[in-house]
Amino acid sequence: VQGRRLIIAVDGPSGSGKSSVCRAAARRLGAAYLDTGAMYRAATWYCLDRGVDLDDEAAVAVAVEELPLTISTDPEHQTVTVGECDVTESIREARISESVSEISTNRAARALLVAAQRRIIDQAGVVVAEGRDITTVVAPDAQVRVLLTASAEVRLARRGLQMGGGQPAEALQRQVLARDARDSTAVNFTEAADGVAVLDSSDLTFEETVDALVSRVESVR
Ligand code: DC
Repeated sequence: VQGRRLIIAVDGPSGSGKSSVCRAAARRLGAAYLDTGAMYRAATWYCLDRGVDLDDEAAVAVAVEELPLTISTDPEHQTVTVGECDVTESIREARISESVSEISTNRAARALLVAAQRRIIDQAGVVVAEGRDITTVVAPDAQVRVLLTASAEVRLARRGLQMGGGQPAEALQRQVLARDARDSTAVNFTEAADGVAVLDSSDLTFEETVDALVSRVESVR
């Protein structure tokens, strides 16, 4: 795939396995990998760090405009930095997950992050970009557009595993479903838009899901 521009856009809800599937597919394809959710998380980290009132839409927009964000697109080494601070780990903390929808439902913040994502995608030759609005807003012209889904049951189970399974199942379920519900007020990622293929991973293993994504890419190459 060297020497040519190719965008693989993948959207889907939490717990669909999107991030690990996309990272593995990017490795296999020798492609760059962009986790746009990490950008919303980094923006949230920055607002919290600066003490920005998340209910103040204008203040959030100003902070996101100033956000000194660097995100690597190497699928082998995911690093996210804000200014001098490596936030790769801290953006995964519960306090970020709990507040990130405040940023992702802020229109001005979304517009800024979408523009930044387009710049990163434009600079990458071959890239797997994943999020909630990549197939529809960020890169609707992508050659491969996939909505990666899984049944709510499977997503919750996977999320439980991912979080160590230590939390009471019910609290966990509420958290994930509430976040998806909040997020889907900003962008629709529960149904595939025109021209977007649905890849349902409910009955697939991780490897089978990666294979399915990679073979879609192979078919347009
Ligand atoms: O995929 P994730 O859980 O790391 O995403 C973090 C948050 O950012 C999530 O609440 C949804 C939001 N998001 C978004 O609105 N648009 C994207 N393209 C990616 C993530």
